[in-house]
Amino acid sequence: MPVAAFGRHVSIGRKKNPTGCGQVRACLILPRRATAIAARPAGFAERYAWRRAGASCDAAYRRESAGYAIECAVDSGDSARLDTALTLFRGRTYTQIAICRCRIASPYADQKHQKRVTRINTRDFRIGGRVLKEEVWSGFEQDPLGFLDRELSGAGDIVRTGRNEYCVGNPAEARTVLSNANGSYAEHSDFFHTRYGYFEPRSAQLDMRREARGLLREYLKSRPPGELREFLRRELGASSRWPDTGNRLTYRYLFPLLLSPDRPQGLRALLDQIVERSVLAGARARQPRWRRMWLQFNTTWRLSQAIGERQTQPRTPPADLLDVVANAAEPDRRQDELSEVYLSFLFAVAGSVGFVLAWSLYLWGTHARRDAPAEWIVHEALRLWPVAWQLGRRPVQAHDLSGVRMETSDEVVVCPYLVQRNAAHWQAPAEFRPERWADEDAWRNPAFIPFGHGPHRCVAADLATQLVADMLQVIRELGEVGVTAHDHRPTVAAAMAPPPFTLTIATTG
Ligand code: HEM
Repeated sequence: MPVAAFGRHVSIGRKKNPTGCGQVRACLILPRRATAIAARPAGFAERYAWRRAGASCDAAYRRESAGYAIECAVDSGDSARLDTALTLFRGRTYTQIAICRCRIASPYADQKHQKRVTRINTRDFRIGGRVLKEEVWSGFEQDPLGFLDRELSGAGDIVRTGRNEYCVGNPAEARTVLSNANGSYAEHSDFFHTRYGYFEPRSAQLDMRREARGLLREYLKSRPPGELREFLRRELGASSRWPDTGNRLTYRYLFPLLLSPDRPQGLRALLDQIVERSVLAGARARQPRWRRMWLQFNTTWRLSQAIGERQTQPRTPPADLLDVVANAAEPDRRQDELSEVYLSFLFAVAGSVGFVLAWSLYLWGTHARRDAPAEWIVHEALRLWPVAWQLGRRPVQAHDLSGVRMETSDEVVVCPYLVQRNAAHWQAPAEFRPERWADEDAWRNPAFIPFGHGPHRCVAADLATQLVADMLQVIRELGEVGVTAHDHRPTVAAAMAPPPFTLTIATTG
């Protein structure tokens, strides 16, 4: 069956769980008052330990954790257990019991992120002689990677992650979607997606692609020998906190690409602020709403002004990416829209490149074999933990994908994270094995799309990979290098960042 099953929400009776599935594991609804009473679940760590010990049901019964006991009974399909579990709601008559099974313990689950889950479907579900209403929920928003890991193992090609949202994990289908050979999707990429829709026309996007690549290539080519080494030695102290250091390093190293030296100092300060408050892993979530809004307003206003000035006095060839954006657009183009396209470049330079560097260092430093060439390590980091892990596309005509009907109201998300862990294409896909890149075939593997595929494939793929490999190599040579991980969970947002870690460098001589 191509489509995965989901976390389940089982209810007995007619009413829906009014408290919202993300808040409770079980609720009991009294007949007339229709009030929900949450049965307090056991703590997360305890439940996780139960599951791992395989002692979940009995422990739940002993502790009288009604919600969990019911969940276990439903899990095992044991109607006698279900009756016993229901008696844990002692003395209460009920018309409905709803159980949330979305928050299944996972090594990635972040307890701070208890977001709402989405109800996708309902169907009847039998346990003994009893017919239950099964509500199908997606736990994707709460714990995306844990959800995908669970669902794909049972499913195969496509995981439904929301009412109208599908994640594609099959490499061939992923490439079909991204190349858009049949014209089934609107022709766009996430890079040119702004608050106002898709930046158009494509001819302007193509101009920007060409100019941006040219600038980056020239900039990297013109670096004097030894400059990168000097830069990294200067910027990295004996100890640094990552992944933030990775973002700051690539931002500073590539800064002249973003803003040429003749730009006002105020713009530089603005970009510094955006990096600190929006690009660093988890930074956005740490800001109060009012500050995020103020930064967004200020950014749009200041960048729009700068782009407007440049449009009145175009500079060719462009001296920085702000020129690239200003030059490529038609004169009547909204400047606030252009400022968002410019931010895509900033996020690519400081965000994507910085995170890939941090992932490469983290994986290299936390694994025993540390002698592999830097290029292999970067490729293996890109395969295992693709920073751009979701590439969304909007269908413009109904069509079938892996046997599932896609409508124009659906969103199809190609997921490099799933594609690149496909067991049919990679041996031991969940393991970090840089040595797999010694094989020529690995470089041609169709299940490797960290930079996308087709007409929208990243224009900087080779240059960015080479830069990260060079940085990694130089850091390895700076001295005795140690990596101490403080957590094992990645930070999952629009980009996927590695867990926090400390890098120490003991220089010799
Ligand atoms: C290692 C770092 C990077 C990663 C992982 C990355 C990833 C990607 C991905 C996955 C896409 C395809 C998006 C889609 O199909 O929806 C893309 C497109 C693109 N990227 Fe990158 N990128 C990186 C660095 C950069 C840099 C440094 C630049 C520019 C200076 C850049 C410029 C672009 C552009 C212009 C597109 C084209 C979008 C289009 O034609 O529609 N990227 N990138």
